[in-house]
Amino acid sequence: MNRFSEYYDRLRRYAEDTIKSFLPESKGFQKTLIEAMNYSMLSGGKRLRPILMYESWHLFGGTDERLIAPFIAAIEMIHTYSLVHDDLPAMDNDMYRRGRKTTHVIYGAGMATLAGDGLLNLAFETALKASGHGHDDRVIEALRVLAHKAGIYGMAGGQCVDIEIENTEDVTDEEIDFVNEHKTACMIESSLMVGGILAGADSGYISRLEEAGSCLGKAFQIRDDILNVTGTEKELGKSIGSDSDEGKRNYVSLHGLEDAQKKVTELTSHAVSVFDELYRFRGIEYAFLSELAERMTRRRK
Ligand code: IPE
Ligand code: IPE
Ligand code: MG
Ligand code: MG
Repeated sequence: MNRFSEYYDRLRRYAEDTIKSFLPESKGFQKTLIEAMNYSMLSGGKRLRPILMYESWHLFGGTDERLIAPFIAAIEMIHTYSLVHDDLPAMDNDMYRRGRKTTHVIYGAGMATLAGDGLLNLAFETALKASGHGHDDRVIEALRVLAHKAGIYGMAGGQCVDIEIENTEDVTDEEIDFVNEHKTACMIESSLMVGGILAGADSGYISRLEEAGSCLGKAFQIRDDILNVTGTEKELGKSIGSDSDEGKRNYVSLHGLEDAQKKVTELTSHAVSVFDELYRFRGIEYAFLSELAERMTRRRK
């Protein structure tokens, strides 16, 4: 195994164990709701956002895992809630996710809506467990970023425009950029920023992490749109061709596959230059985030 795979697998295992340790037991009269939440949380998934958060925390010298662990679980809960709602019949109406039937297919749309609500609230309750360990100022700032980047000025705001431009003709680059920045990049930004904040990085460096996250996140979404055309359901674990069936408007529908991949490369190279600079500044030889970003331009899942 090469250095990247070893590093990546270690982080992924840590993320997986950490996420599991904060999941609720399915018992009580609301057992079905908890089961639906755990069904979506335990369906696999790349755990990219926890990995980004952990590495940015490590990059800025974080040491106390009592601070980072609850946020690792929280970011994945918010991300998973966004996917459960995104797949609902009233949104993208998708049947497969992470190689399994979507939550609404198994539990019904009502229970899937509640599973999303449950996960979002549990995320903040979980993140709060990082308090009381001597760095509550950092925890409060991290909670602020987490909330802001997932809400109306972040992911939910992006999803709003994503729905509104469906099946419309006169979509602008500005609107597509708004969607990609908000529905996807904001969660990547908050993953990196929260890691830095909890490690005690200065605000100037948090801005640099936000900048890198914005480019990386937009590249990630454009690659996702490419894979919706060129990927396979087996590799992706979700339906392909669904964007065009649903009349989705995105970078690929506007500019075609070739220009879209060029844009992915261009955005990624900016993110990599920021990461390289941060690793140099910290005196860390192996720039894992730079290699991860580069590999993501070619990802198949
Ligand atoms: C899917 O995110 C939604 C997008 C922002 C494109 P991921 O591709 O990270 O999904 P999982 O977590 O691996 O399932
Ligand atoms: C993903 O949007 C963004 C969020 C879920 C917030 P998409 O609808 O493009 O992603 P997939 O293809 O369903 O994963
Ligand atoms: Mg969507
Ligand atoms: Mg979708």
